[in-house]
Amino acid sequence: MSHLLITGASQLLTLRGRVPRRGKTLSDLSILHDGALLIRDGVIAAVGTRSEIESLPESRSAEKIDAGGRVVLPGFVDAHTHLIHAASRAEEYELKIAGASYEEIARKGGGILNSVKKLRAATADALKKRAQAALREFAAHGTTTLEAKSGYGLDVASELKLLRLHKELSTEQPLEIVSTFLGAHVVPAEYRRKRAGAEQYIELLTDKLIPEVAAEKLAEFCDVFCDRGAFSRKDSKKILEAGKKNGLAPRVHAEQLTRTGATQLAVQLGAASCDHLEQVSKADIRALAKSNTVATLLPGCDFHLGMKRYAPARALIDAGAIVALATDYNPGTSPTMSMPMILSLACTQLRMSPAEAIAAATINAAYSLRREKQIGSLETSKQADLAIFDVEDYREIPYYFGVNKCWMTLKKGRPVFQKAHT
Ligand code: NIG
Ligand code: FE
Repeated sequence: MSHLLITGASQLLTLRGRVPRRGKTLSDLSILHDGALLIRDGVIAAVGTRSEIESLPESRSAEKIDAGGRVVLPGFVDAHTHLIHAASRAEEYELKIAGASYEEIARKGGGILNSVKKLRAATADALKKRAQAALREFAAHGTTTLEAKSGYGLDVASELKLLRLHKELSTEQPLEIVSTFLGAHVVPAEYRRKRAGAEQYIELLTDKLIPEVAAEKLAEFCDVFCDRGAFSRKDSKKILEAGKKNGLAPRVHAEQLTRTGATQLAVQLGAASCDHLEQVSKADIRALAKSNTVATLLPGCDFHLGMKRYAPARALIDAGAIVALATDYNPGTSPTMSMPMILSLACTQLRMSPAEAIAAATINAAYSLRREKQIGSLETSKQADLAIFDVEDYREIPYYFGVNKCWMTLKKGRPVFQKAHT
């Protein structure tokens, strides 16, 4: 049996309390001052004040980490990423700065289709290497669990290759990867050229790919990009229902560029999460507030695309919706692995308080991945997934931006990142 004792936290954010967090409870971090943590075989054995924890018999022989007056919190749970892709789209970034819109670029065969072309041409080995490097960056910014979507393959072989890579990566490196099938990202080019091609592609998804993904246990969730230029609400319903029938819980890309009614659909289907939400209506906000579908906000997209309209986080929180935050790491709209940067954007652009942003990025995100019993807070018998930030006050995590203040990240009690001494 191995024991690890962590002491010396100026603030230990336990996030103990009601799950999921809604409304006023979202800012409840349950902070222990001069708190300590005892970990047994990767699981939290005790959390309390330093004197309480140090007096436990197991603490005496435990290996020790002195947090040195820094802030200790649960590792970030990044509940929306497009982890595996072949290359950046820096060329489109430049076009966008010069005035082209995301949708214009997509209509000309750029955007997601550009990434599909690159992914199909890449070897599994090259994709894996790129993802491994990204995962090291995630860990370096305090993330310990992330959701990963397929969706740049869009044919049977390439989608399955992507999902199998999720599985391999999940076992071969320390971060936990929660796999989502996003065959319904857009209709691929070869089907656009056919008559009734979109219908045929949807049929391929519902009748072949989804059952195969489920049979091979390659994903837990099924996602759809429901927007102009991607899938309609009606098509999305068909695809998500096929997913559900095969045991894949729905997640939805909703109301990002235009309002399609995807949020109402997500609520009707009992989706685990409904993401983006820049264009939601008041009725959508009310529907989310009454549901257990998490509103996952992705301010990195609006920032990167230079969009002025962010999701109405305040209205969502005040109405009682379950709000989470994620990077949406992807080559087209949000090329970042940094949850601290997302927290900074949540504070300045979404007007969330630092405490709300942290709860949204940990416990509520864990709830959206249906893992709230294992991760997202620092409580006895949960996984010892935590991040230590080189700040004295948790508000300094979003306050500093564009610099990495993460000092150490631990997954199941093992350091997976440690800042080099400077
Ligand atoms: O979450 N909106 C759809 N999917 C991604 C963008 C994908 C891309 O542009 O490559 C998103 O923003
Ligand atoms: Fe996305």
